[in-house]
Amino acid sequence: MKFPDLQKCTVAVIGLGYVGLPLCIEIAKKQKCYKTGKQLNRKVIGFDIDEERISELKSGFDKTNEVNKKSLLKADFFDLTNKIEIIANADVFIITVPTPINENKQPDLIPLEKASRTVAEALKIRFKTLNKSIPIVIYESTVYPGTTQEICIPIIEKESGLLCEDSDKKNIFACGYSPERINPGDSRHRLKDIVKVTSGSDNKAAKWINSFYGSIIKAGTHPTKNIKIAEAAKIIENTQRDINIALMNELAIIFKLLNIDTLDVLEAAGTKWNFIKFKPGLVGGHCIGVDPYYLTYKAQLLGYKPEIVLAGRRINDDMGKWVAEQLILEISKKNISLVRSNALILGFTFKENCPDLRNTKVFDIVKALREYKLNLDIVDPRINPSEAKNIYGLDIKNNIPNSKKYDAILCAVAHKKFIEMSNAEWKRILKVNAIVYDLKGIVPRELNPIRL
Ligand SMILES: NC(=O)c1ccc[n+]([C@@H]2O[C@H](COP(=O)([O-])OP(=O)(O)OC[C@H]3O[C@@H](n4cnc5c(N)ncnc54)[C@H](O)[C@@H]3O)[C@@H](O)[C@H]2O)c1
Repeated sequence: MKFPDLQKCTVAVIGLGYVGLPLCIEIAKKQKCYKTGKQLNRKVIGFDIDEERISELKSGFDKTNEVNKKSLLKADFFDLTNKIEIIANADVFIITVPTPINENKQPDLIPLEKASRTVAEALKIRFKTLNKSIPIVIYESTVYPGTTQEICIPIIEKESGLLCEDSDKKNIFACGYSPERINPGDSRHRLKDIVKVTSGSDNKAAKWINSFYGSIIKAGTHPTKNIKIAEAAKIIENTQRDINIALMNELAIIFKLLNIDTLDVLEAAGTKWNFIKFKPGLVGGHCIGVDPYYLTYKAQLLGYKPEIVLAGRRINDDMGKWVAEQLILEISKKNISLVRSNALILGFTFKENCPDLRNTKVFDIVKALREYKLNLDIVDPRINPSEAKNIYGLDIKNNIPNSKKYDAILCAVAHKKFIEMSNAEWKRILKVNAIVYDLKGIVPRELNPIRL
């Protein structure tokens, strides 16, 4: 049996979220291969278990804001579906489902296991009907080293009856892991501009998978020796970032006691060529605040209790509460009555310029502030208010109320709209003597913001 035709294969992408959808669009493009210059003519089947997501995408609406209506409607989809029979038409299966943690901060592999069963089901149908080439299964979800080979491949083998091996047998499939490294909301670093790390279950599979991604990734690829290395590479990218931010957060706490501005300190220290530039802040979302727990889980299974990684996680997880306490302290210093004060939080998403509400640490600030019974408004121009209401039970507005002035404003997320606010706009919403607490360093200095 042969591997699929690189130029003309049909690709099923399982899980059409922040990662899966932009990937579908890139694969479906009728473009020339970046490596060989040959014309690509691939078909894409987008698969998701969320029916609402499928029908929104069919109508050209992407709630993640990663793909615009024109690109979505123009894309050469074979289908957008939640039916397994349809993806049985594919030659390549790419899995981009969520990998969250559970309430014990341990990996929740249920979506990944379910997606593996879906692929196994599709492979069974494909094997009976078409059986034309060796199917390739590629995992892109972030996992701890070993997951693909210890958890995912055994599920596919057991459920499909096929084997993941390099042999002359007919009932085989090949597998690989290629982590996604996109940064939603970032228009400069798009999928094709980020080097793609690739790996495969054997040399032939690794080579095919590397050529496949090399054809659509302008920045090129980095093949690794095996799947575990590719899995580990992704997990440490985010772990390193988490620890660096945790260090900045710890410094911010120390500098607050010293009564010095952390951002000023970092600016000064940053003039040395080898000072690494990170800033303090909230670490939310489903990647940086989650992925390190995948690594620590696996380390503990192997008998090692990580020190630095877990300490960093603790510091970052407690940051929202600390920020809320600092704000309360500042309000109290000015003798403003807490129960009568109007406070405004600017920004609720877990990061700037995207609508993603998952695991936002601004919620920790809101929870802590509520204990003090402030009159609290929350404004975020990027969110869907009904989604925020469903998930967090909060009434969040898209726009700052016209006629209201505040005793305290906490700038929590650096959305473009907030960065672009003029001094006059700031002054319009601030009472005399008001406090501006600026977590992101975006409020004009002449308004005397308190910074981290
Ligand atoms: N978003 C990012 O910034 C980013 C960047 C790099 C890597 N990652 C990783 O990529 C993976 C996906 O993340 P995301 O942000 O795209 O998630 P997401 O929540 O935006 O999207 C996941 C999609 O998968 C669907 N889904 C869930 N279970 C499914 C199943 N069994 N079968 C089919 N579809 C299913 C959901 O309905 C959803 O539409 C995660 O492992 C994440 O850690 C995310």
